[in-house]
Amino acid sequence: MNRGTAIYPGSFDPPTNGHLDLIERGSKMFEQLVVAILRNSEKSPMFSVAERIEMLRQLTADWSNVRIDTFDGLMVEYAKSIDAMCVLRGIRAISDYEYELQMALMNRKLEPTLETVFMMPAVKYSYVSSRLVREVAQAGGPVKDLVPEAVEQKLREKLDPAYKLRQPNVVDLSKARRRKRKA
Ligand code: PNS
Repeated sequence: MNRGTAIYPGSFDPPTNGHLDLIERGSKMFEQLVVAILRNSEKSPMFSVAERIEMLRQLTADWSNVRIDTFDGLMVEYAKSIDAMCVLRGIRAISDYEYELQMALMNRKLEPTLETVFMMPAVKYSYVSSRLVREVAQAGGPVKDLVPEAVEQKLREKLDPAYKLRQPNVVDLSKARRRKRKA
């Protein structure tokens, strides 16, 4: 069987532990897995596309057959342009199924040769979604164990710009300059 290239499309706003779990599973199943971020989503995102690319690149650096890319327009057209034979999507609970089935069948109508493969993330992530992570973080709640540490930090920085300056290992350049002038 030619396991070829698969595409894992989504918004990833932000990437969660559930996404990473699926990326890891997908990377074992396919020769190459392209994690593709939709550029022109109607939703107003919390993280810019550039920020999401940076986070995902950092988080997937250990998997040599995983590549991060972006796309616009129809997913099937993008999949064709990179010669992907499969679309990978995660199903966490029965509530995901209806939307995912609709999307898979529409994609099949648009491009009959492209197969959709569904995988389940680990059960401990079965309630985790980017939307709920954003909601909890915005209300000041903890998102530890739901997202990787690097994403948790980015969420904190995004929601509280002063957070970065309070970290002991981050040098406050303005203070450093003031100290130098006094000396
Ligand atoms: O993470 P999400 O938001 O559930 O991902 C949805 C996504 C990006 C996979 C889907 O909206 C998509 O493929 N959009 C691209 C436009 C498209 O091809 N639409 C027809 C699919 S039915």
